[in-house]
Amino acid sequence: MKVALLHTQDALEPPVDPVLDQIEGALGESGHEARRVVIDDSIEPVIADLKSDPPDLVFNIAESFGGRSALESNIAALLNLLSLRYTGSSPAGLIVAGDKTLTKKVLSFHGILTARFATVFRGNVDWAGDISFPLILKPPQEDASLGITQNSIVHDIKELLESISSLQTEYQSPVLAEEFIDGREFYVGVLGNSNVQALPIIELDFSKFPKGLPKIASWSAKWGEDGEGKGAEFAGTESIFPTDLPAEMADRIKKVAVDAFQALRLRDYARVDLRVTDSGKIYVIEVNPNCYLEAKSEFATAALKEGIDYPPLINRIVELASARYSR
Ligand SMILES: Nc1ncnc2c1ncn2[C@@H]1O[C@H](COP(=O)(O)OP(=O)(O)O)[C@@H](O)[C@H]1O
Ligand SMILES: [Mg+2]
Repeated sequence: MKVALLHTQDALEPPVDPVLDQIEGALGESGHEARRVVIDDSIEPVIADLKSDPPDLVFNIAESFGGRSALESNIAALLNLLSLRYTGSSPAGLIVAGDKTLTKKVLSFHGILTARFATVFRGNVDWAGDISFPLILKPPQEDASLGITQNSIVHDIKELLESISSLQTEYQSPVLAEEFIDGREFYVGVLGNSNVQALPIIELDFSKFPKGLPKIASWSAKWGEDGEGKGAEFAGTESIFPTDLPAEMADRIKKVAVDAFQALRLRDYARVDLRVTDSGKIYVIEVNPNCYLEAKSEFATAALKEGIDYPPLINRIVELASARYSR
């Protein structure tokens, strides 16, 4: 079939995101005819492009519009209005999962554990129940650990107030303050719709993390320090397949990931980030619909561990999406 790979301009800026070539190659290997459609900060050229040669399916990996990730859901909404078929979650799924506060509210309704929290915006505080220090502060609609540094962990009221005001100035958005969950960090890829499958669990191993720093996947841990030299936080974290998880615990973690995916009404694929305390409580930290599909990403690595090679993985997503429209 004719597939349009819809991606952001960011993906083309140096260093060019290898995921474009990878998905295009995988689509080709599965016999699809792929072409790229770039979305930047103007919607008219995208509409014109998609209308001039309507694809059978849009492979939607566009995670922002004009650099703003809060607008991600509008791209899926546009595809709906153009009556185009597309991979991944609906606008509703992207809105709820794209907002960490809304996510937590929906998950709580379904009895899925998330860290207790409060939101603060321009003097308005929204909370339910007690919360206690230490807390982690984050902008609720950002991604990729944007805005998450070691200063995001606060231990008392003074640190809390200082961090809230600097986050608010920077992001002009509410601040989410949630209880810091001390525990191991896991990522679970989820694939499917009526039959949802959890992929092998990946752990973010902090055993080589700098001593004395709270163990979090901060901006510098994920991407290196300030984008310059890779610092100790980056060097101290590694994604691994844990070998010491009891089967019963692994099953429970996978079940929570699948439950979260379904509670948020996501589609096709996603990655669920969780933390598990020493006492065995499983907390969902966040859920990433349309998660990064680069061949070395956690999601693709986990699929490979399950025996799903990259081209079949991409084709599976195509099939899951297509099946939704053929009923
Ligand atoms: N409640 C929490 N308790 C402990 N660590 C957390 C908590 N929330 C986030 N973190 C840490 O911060 C990282 C980034 O937070 P996350 O909510 O996943 O944001 P992003 O969307 O930027 O990935 C997580 O991977 C985790 O290491
Ligand atoms: Mg995350």
